[in-house]
Amino acid sequence: MLVDSFEVQSPNVVYSDEFITSTYDYASTKLDRAPDGKWVVKPTNSTYQFRVDRRVPKLGVMLVGWGGNNGTTLTAGILANKHGITWMTKDGLKKPNFYGSLTQAATVRVGNYEGEEVYAPFKALLPMVEPTDIVLGGWDISGMNLAEAMERSKVLDWTLQEQLVPYMRDMVPLPGIYDPDFVAANQEERADNLIKGSKREQMETVRQQIRAFKESNSLDKVVVLWTANTERFAQVMEGLNDTADNLMAAIDRNEAEIAPSTLYAAACVLEGVPFVNGSPQNTFVPGMIELAVKHNVLIGGDDFKSGQTKLKSVLVDFLVGAGIKPTSIVSYNHLGNNDGLNLSAPQTFRSKEISKSNVVDDMVASNSILYAPGEHPDHVVVIKYVPYVGDSKRAMDEYTSEIFMGGRNTLVIHNTCEDSLLAAPIILDLVLLAELITRINLKKDDEDAFRGLHPIAVLLSYLTKAPLVPYGTPVVNALAKQRAMLENILRACVGLAPDSQMLLEFKA
Ligand code: NAI
Repeated sequence: MLVDSFEVQSPNVVYSDEFITSTYDYASTKLDRAPDGKWVVKPTNSTYQFRVDRRVPKLGVMLVGWGGNNGTTLTAGILANKHGITWMTKDGLKKPNFYGSLTQAATVRVGNYEGEEVYAPFKALLPMVEPTDIVLGGWDISGMNLAEAMERSKVLDWTLQEQLVPYMRDMVPLPGIYDPDFVAANQEERADNLIKGSKREQMETVRQQIRAFKESNSLDKVVVLWTANTERFAQVMEGLNDTADNLMAAIDRNEAEIAPSTLYAAACVLEGVPFVNGSPQNTFVPGMIELAVKHNVLIGGDDFKSGQTKLKSVLVDFLVGAGIKPTSIVSYNHLGNNDGLNLSAPQTFRSKEISKSNVVDDMVASNSILYAPGEHPDHVVVIKYVPYVGDSKRAMDEYTSEIFMGGRNTLVIHNTCEDSLLAAPIILDLVLLAELITRINLKKDDEDAFRGLHPIAVLLSYLTKAPLVPYGTPVVNALAKQRAMLENILRACVGLAPDSQMLLEFKA
């Protein structure tokens, strides 16, 4: 059974016009080592107060790479939903939806009513912006309007595209920051819409563009998300980008090694605007992270977790969790869209390879019955550009594992899927959740004032391949754990306990 919405009745939860305030008992554990070397585990309890601003802002979303496959597909999808556009295909009439979006198309368990499990839409947990209320905008180094760019992307059915043209032809991306040294040489052809000037001037232009977008659309808030091409990794060097001050000084000196994505991110942080990175490159060099923390502005990333890696973060978690030992994981991809073209250069491919490689680390580390210290499964990732398949990416994975008594188990998975149709709903979730996170405040019982969550938005991990976390925080890749973290914190904001799955009420 699905309920549209609910309100929690509890002495620990107070709803006012402006806020939902909940007092939350957090149960955890503390580990100690006794002098005799034995481990001692102590259950701990601490009280937190959460306060969520219920006032949903008028939100603007600016995409870097707006005219690409993901940017146009997301824009088209939101518009089709907003205007209720249906379209005919050989399989019949199609209606717009938000399948693939955690916030819009997934549910959470609320409880049990007269023997029946009751679920609510994920978005019913806390007040969130409606996707169709978002004002979209952004940058692209290609000046093509969004209607033509949608056609170039070859993702959506033609009869749908035809109906969307009137809504999209006047949407024209802002000029963007382009540096051929950071993307593949094959991108040069489309780069006709560029911000000129030194790095400092380029960054200042982006700041002005954000301000103008906010003002001209009378927005309360803006979130920026990078869905532009994958850049190569920037070198991290002492004195260049290792601290916030050095990064700012390097931008002033017009240092070649400062990537466009870092310039956009720095512009956002200086404007107090959240920035999410959907590609694998190291936009968030140490100096950039320090800048975001210093200004207390949300940053999140890296690299959308859409297809192959999402499955990997489920499958390896299942195998290792079942006491089975994956020993070889080999992933082949081929795709024929512009992302694939850009990734055909070794330096940009390397960024993707790094981001895809670390995804099983936490699961391997969780089970040293299976893996000796330092032992790791062989893990290889191959990506090839095959123009004919376009956006319909193929991902082939072979998982070989050791099982009971010297046995071998091999799983082979073939996945064919339109890449951008997987990524677009994830982009939507990232911006909606990033906005929501900025409205969550908390304090421990001994603290006087509420503060925001840490500016590095770990809660977005579920949606990213290589989650960005503050130094010293564990990186969790396992999908179910990432989802549980997000859901349970949102539940805590309305005073609900994590869903323990114990179902004790049925067991006594
Ligand atoms: P795309 O190549 O179709 O779109 C990227 C757009 O960014 C292009 O229109 C390009 O002109 C523009 N661009 C490049 N550099 C720019 C800059 N410095 N400033 C402004 N615009 C710039 O690629 P697609 O398929 O939309 O993917 C976008 C990114 O998302 C890629 O980096 C890809 O690796 C990443 N990604 C995509 C996933 C998916 O589609 N399933 C999954 C994970 C990551």
